Amino acid sequence: MPATDLYERLETAAQAIAEATDRPRHDVVVVLGSASGDFPEHLDEAVAVPYPRIPGFPVPAVRGHAGTLYSTSFGPNRVIMLSGRVHAYEGYSTDVLTFAVRASLMAGCHTLVVTNAAGGCGDGMIAGSIVAISDHINLAGINPLVGPNDSRLGTRFPDMSDTYTPRLRRLVLDVAAEQDIAISEGVYAWFLGPTFETPAEVEMARRLGADLVGMSTVPEVICARHMERQVIGLSVVTNLAAGIADHRLTHEDVSATAELVKEDFSRLLIALLPRI
Ligand code: HPA
Repeated sequence: MPATDLYERLETAAQAIAEATDRPRHDVVVVLGSASGDFPEHLDEAVAVPYPRIPGFPVPAVRGHAGTLYSTSFGPNRVIMLSGRVHAYEGYSTDVLTFAVRASLMAGCHTLVVTNAAGGCGDGMIAGSIVAISDHINLAGINPLVGPNDSRLGTRFPDMSDTYTPRLRRLVLDVAAEQDIAISEGVYAWFLGPTFETPAEVEMARRLGADLVGMSTVPEVICARHMERQVIGLSVVTNLAAGIADHRLTHEDVSATAELVKEDFSRLLIALLPRI
């Protein structure tokens, strides 16, 4: 599909978001991952728009991913929350799996906040902790910008220094300290999945400098940087990665640990979002 076509589909979706939420523009978009899927329960006055009502939005299939866009406010910020993300391992093209984030950025958002569940492999990572992403390593072998470049979205060769906005990384650490929430920073390595990594792959990622391994986040972040938006990445370490953990990994264990962290994680988001 030509790149121009993508741009026009994004404009149509951004317009549909504005109409369905009755807000001409938004400021911040949050991608809720498996660690924060029920966060919208904390929102009293959110407008909920099911994904199928927005042209081009994908319909997620994985457990714990609902497929609803919420529009709400935190302080001065009009915030889009995307509950229900699709992953490359489900077979979606990168254009499809990044569409909701790109459309939200097109709807005015200057900042992407992306959250996920990840395996911990770096020194000091503990299951049940929260980590602010400081940088990433793309080990998935795909990139959402492959194909013709549409210069209305961004440049052909985007710079990826300071991908996770330094000022916002400091803000996250400050807000966590104020809220008495333990947090550290770490490098996130993106694997395609859906298999969990082998112990040798985890060891490779660790030696390359990764602290976290996961199956999401990086494509959305690349699109946001292409569009020159600010980025915050937050991981919940739901398990120690394969070979570091002394037991087999299951999706159920990942979900159970995410459940334990969710209160702190929600508190962090609620304190952070008005201050971006
Ligand atoms: N690996 C990849 N993705 C994950 C993991 C993991 O160990 N835990 C949660 N998501």
